[in-house]
Amino acid sequence: MVATGLLVASLFTLVLGTPTARNLKLHESREEIPAGFSLSGAASPDTTLKLRLALVQSNFAELEDKLYDVSTPSSANYGQHLSKEEVEQLVAPSAESVNAVNAWLTENGLTAQTISPAGDWLAFEVPVSKANELFDADFSVFTHDESGLKAVRTLAYSIPAELQGHLDLVHPTITFPNPNSHLPVVRSPVKPVQNLTSRAVPASCASTITPACLQALYGIPTTKATQSSNKLAVSGFIDQFANSADLKTFLGKFRTDISSSTTFTLQTLDGGSNSQSSSQAGVEANLDIQYTVGLASAVPTIFISVGDDFQDGDLEGFLDIINFLLNESAPPQVLTTSYGQNENTISAKLANQLCNAYAQLGARGTSILFASGDGGVSGSQSSSCSKFVPTFPSGCPFMTSVGATQGINPETAADFSSGGFSNVFARPSYQSTAVSSYLTALGSTNSGKFNTSGRAFPDIATQGVDFEIVVSGRTEGVDGTSCASPTLAAIISLLNDRLIAAGKSPLGFLNPFLYSAAGTAALTDITSGSNPGCNTNGFPAKAGWDPVTGLGTPNFAKLLTAVGL
Ligand SMILES: *[C@@H]1O[C@H](CO)[C@@H](O)[C@H](O)[C@H]1NC(C)=O
Ligand SMILES: *[C@@H]1O[C@H](CO)[C@@H](O)[C@H](O)[C@H]1NC(C)=O
Ligand SMILES: *[C@@H]1O[C@H](CO)[C@@H](O)[C@H](O)[C@H]1NC(C)=O
Repeated sequence: MVATGLLVASLFTLVLGTPTARNLKLHESREEIPAGFSLSGAASPDTTLKLRLALVQSNFAELEDKLYDVSTPSSANYGQHLSKEEVEQLVAPSAESVNAVNAWLTENGLTAQTISPAGDWLAFEVPVSKANELFDADFSVFTHDESGLKAVRTLAYSIPAELQGHLDLVHPTITFPNPNSHLPVVRSPVKPVQNLTSRAVPASCASTITPACLQALYGIPTTKATQSSNKLAVSGFIDQFANSADLKTFLGKFRTDISSSTTFTLQTLDGGSNSQSSSQAGVEANLDIQYTVGLASAVPTIFISVGDDFQDGDLEGFLDIINFLLNESAPPQVLTTSYGQNENTISAKLANQLCNAYAQLGARGTSILFASGDGGVSGSQSSSCSKFVPTFPSGCPFMTSVGATQGINPETAADFSSGGFSNVFARPSYQSTAVSSYLTALGSTNSGKFNTSGRAFPDIATQGVDFEIVVSGRTEGVDGTSCASPTLAAIISLLNDRLIAAGKSPLGFLNPFLYSAAGTAALTDITSGSNPGCNTNGFPAKAGWDPVTGLGTPNFAKLLTAVGL
C-alpha cells in the first residue's frame, strides 16, 4: 500500500511539474501567519505590488572586519572611518550577480530602479498575478485584527535556480508589517515644575524628568557645542511630525539658558513631510526632537521624516533612511531611532540585510542608536507570550540598543525596558565576556525561555520614565525607551563635538568602545529592577551587564576621560 501510494504521488509530481526553462527553488517561507493577523483571501490579480530585490553583497565579511577595525579602541586603525566609495566597493554585488538579475528582469519584461548607492537593492512594480508567477507565490490579503491594517503577503516564495547565490531576498513577501511600532506611553499631564539651574540633582527629578535633571544626573554640559560639521539625526516615521512651536515652548520652559529659537533642520525621503499644524504634532517626534535639541546644546540637529511611498510597513522606511544616509558624503555622526518591532515578524534574510546596512553606516562613522522596546521580555510592547520575544533591530550586533531606567538614589531599571537575546544574530565577541558573566550569575532563572547564544541587548540605558514634553502647546509626561535613545544621542553628540574640536574622529559604532574596560568604567552600573513579561519576572538587573539596562548609564566626565579628552 505504501509503495503504491508513493508511486502514485511521484507520477502526479511528474504530471504537475510544469517543465519550464526556469527551475524555481523555494527561497523563504514562514510556517504560520504571525500572531494578530488573519487571512482575508486571495489578493486581486491586478493589485500593484511595489517589490524590492536585495542582491547578494560581494564582500560583506571584509566590511564587517573593517567595521570592527575602525571601531575598536585598541586597534591601530581606530577612528579611521571608511569613505562612501570604500563601503560601496565592499557591498556592491558582483558583476555576475548584476548580470544574472538583469537578464532575468529583461526576460520577464521588467525594469528595475536602483535604490541603494552600492546598487545592492532594486525596486520594481508588478501586478499580483505576475508576482505569483515569477516567484511561485500565493500573494494574499492578510488583515491585522486589532488595527484593521491590510497587507498583501505570501507565506512562501521561490526564485529561479540560476539566481541562487545572486538574489538574496524579495520584499515584501514573508515579512509582515508592524501596526504597533512602539511609541512612548503618555502618562497623565503633570504639573509644571520650577525652573532648574542647580547642578545637584533636584529632588523633583525623582518623579519628573526634564533636561536639567538629565544634565545633573549624567553631568551633561550646558555649554554650547562648537563644531558645525558635527550632526545629530533623528528618525521620523509613521507620519509623526516634529513641531517647531512646541520645541520653542519646551526650550522656553526647560532650557532658559539657551535661545528658545534654537531649532532643527528637516530632511525628507519617500514622500515624507513635517506638517506644522499643532494638532498633528507627534508625541514621539516631539519627544525625540525636544530631548536632542534640548540636551545637545547647539549641535546641528536634523529631523529626517520618512514618508510611506512604498508598499506598506515601516521596514522599507528603515532600509531607505539608511541608504539615504549612505548616499551622503558626510552622514550625521549620530542617528537615533525610537521605533522597532518584534524580531519574529521579520524574515531572517531581511533582518540580516537591515543589520548589514547598519554596519555600513557604522563603518562610515555614524553611531546608530535604537530604543530597545517597551514590553520588557515580551517584546516591543507588552503582549502574551510563552517564550521571551526579542526586538528588532536590537538583536543586530552592529547598532547600539538603549534601555531605560527610572528614579534617582538609586537609579533602577524601568520595568518596561526590553532586553534579551536574539534568535537571529549570534553573540558578537565584544560582549561575550560581559554576557557570559551575567548568564553565570543568572543560573537557571528563565531557562528555556531565551536563546543563550544570541546577541544580547540592550547595551546601555538612560532614564526613561516621566519625561516632560510639550505637545500641541501642553506639557505632559511620557515613558519609554523612546525617551532614552534621544538622551543618549545628545550625550554622544556632545562627546563628538569635543573630539572633533580636538582634531579627533567621532566615536562611530560605539559597542566595542562601550564594552572595553575604559568604556565600562565610564558608565554607572544599574543593579536593581527587572523587566517582567511572558508571565515571568523577566531578567533581573545585576552587577555588570544585564539584559534590562545593559552596561549602565552614562557619566559625561568619565566618558570624556575614556575617549582620551
Ligand atoms: C544619491 O544621490 C544622488 C544625488 O546626490 C542622486 O542622484 C542619486 O539618485 C542618489 N542615489 C540613490 C540610490 O538614492
Ligand atoms: C521659568 O522661566 C520662564 C522663562 O524664563 C519664566 O517665564 C518663568 O517665570 C520661570 N518660572 C519660575 C517658577 O521661576
Ligand atoms: C538561537 O540563536 C542562534 C544565533 O545565535 C540561531 O542560529 C538559532 O537558530 C537560535 N535558536 C532558536 C531556537 O531560535
